[in-house]
Amino acid sequence: MEKMKAGIIGLHMGLAHLEAYLKNPHTQPVAICDINEELLKEVQKKYELPWASTDYRELLSRKEVQIVSVASPDFYHKEHCVAALSAGKHVLCEKPLALTLEDCQAIVSAARKSTASFMIGQVARFSPGFSLAKKIIDSGEIGELFFVESEYAHDYRVAPGAGGWRKDPKRPREPFIGGGCHAVDLLRWIAGDPVETFAYANHKCLPDWPVNDALIALYKFPGDIMGKVFCSIGCRRPYTMRSVFYGTRGTIIADNTSPAIKLSSLRYCQQAGLYDFATIPVTTASHNVEQEVAYFVDCILNNQPVAMDAIEGSKTVASCLAAVISASKGEKVALQPLYQTFLQEEA
Ligand SMILES: NC(=O)c1ccc[n+]([C@@H]2O[C@H](COP(=O)([O-])OP(=O)(O)OC[C@H]3O[C@@H](n4cnc5c(N)ncnc54)[C@H](O)[C@@H]3O)[C@@H](O)[C@H]2O)c1
Repeated sequence: MEKMKAGIIGLHMGLAHLEAYLKNPHTQPVAICDINEELLKEVQKKYELPWASTDYRELLSRKEVQIVSVASPDFYHKEHCVAALSAGKHVLCEKPLALTLEDCQAIVSAARKSTASFMIGQVARFSPGFSLAKKIIDSGEIGELFFVESEYAHDYRVAPGAGGWRKDPKRPREPFIGGGCHAVDLLRWIAGDPVETFAYANHKCLPDWPVNDALIALYKFPGDIMGKVFCSIGCRRPYTMRSVFYGTRGTIIADNTSPAIKLSSLRYCQQAGLYDFATIPVTTASHNVEQEVAYFVDCILNNQPVAMDAIEGSKTVASCLAAVISASKGEKVALQPLYQTFLQEEA
């Protein structure tokens, strides 16, 4: 079978997509786009790609390109995704889907009109530690969830983005949406769509950035499950997403940067004859784009719905945005009215 041809917009995180399309037996990267001409030429030469442009519209006009990865800075996602979907391409968009609900709505609408597939790349769902934790939770091993927590701890001093877009005061990028979306999406995946949030934020670590650099949000999930997400982009520590899932019959401690997860459950403790955590080895892959791409390609080839569709991406953005609003207003924020903005679009 002929390989599907892939194009990539944005060549930093996008390079992981390029590599994943190269490794996937069903795809072949053929076209790239980046506004940085020097980088564009360098990548084209290194990967011996037939086609490159600084204008994404030219990439989208290539008939042979069937899948497009949108890995440009967050505030271009709407423009690039809507244009790619309108051009009939299957689209894999980097997280977060967008920074505003209006942009999410536009992407949901374009995805609904298109016959092509759309996926939001919430890559934490492919992190081996988290996918194993989810499997264990779904098996009932730790009973009924009552508290879930996750965090996104990163030092952005080393990652302002090309041209410093992550700290641009003219286009403030809320870290809780941009990075915190990983932890919020993980909890949504495990505990469902939050119904309410209350949050606090502060700004102590990155005084020269135009946004609060830390935020902590409490969430109420369906089924009376409590949740907490902490996000810091100025902490002094290596990157991680430390997470804990508490159930009535056990507890899982997991992250995306350690070679093991920990499980304590009634069943395990009885079997082992001790009250302790079992250590379960996993491969470490905080950015498992290879599996993310493999899943998307599989959905396309088998004509299956994509679990992480535009609505899923929008719900994660809405859940993050609600916490940002709560922190700034000092009051609880209900999620349903925010979900309505794009669910109406879907109806
Ligand atoms: N999944 C993850 O864990 C993860 C990690 C990092 C970044 N991201 C996401 O990936 C996206 C890109 O982030 P990054 O860290 O690679 O940023 P970056 O700034 O390091 O790289 C972005 C690249 O896009 C290019 N670019 C900018 N505007 C463009 C345009 N209009 N058209 C084409 N190219 C353009 C830049 O020249 C640059 O090479 C963001 O949405 C970010 O949130 C996701």
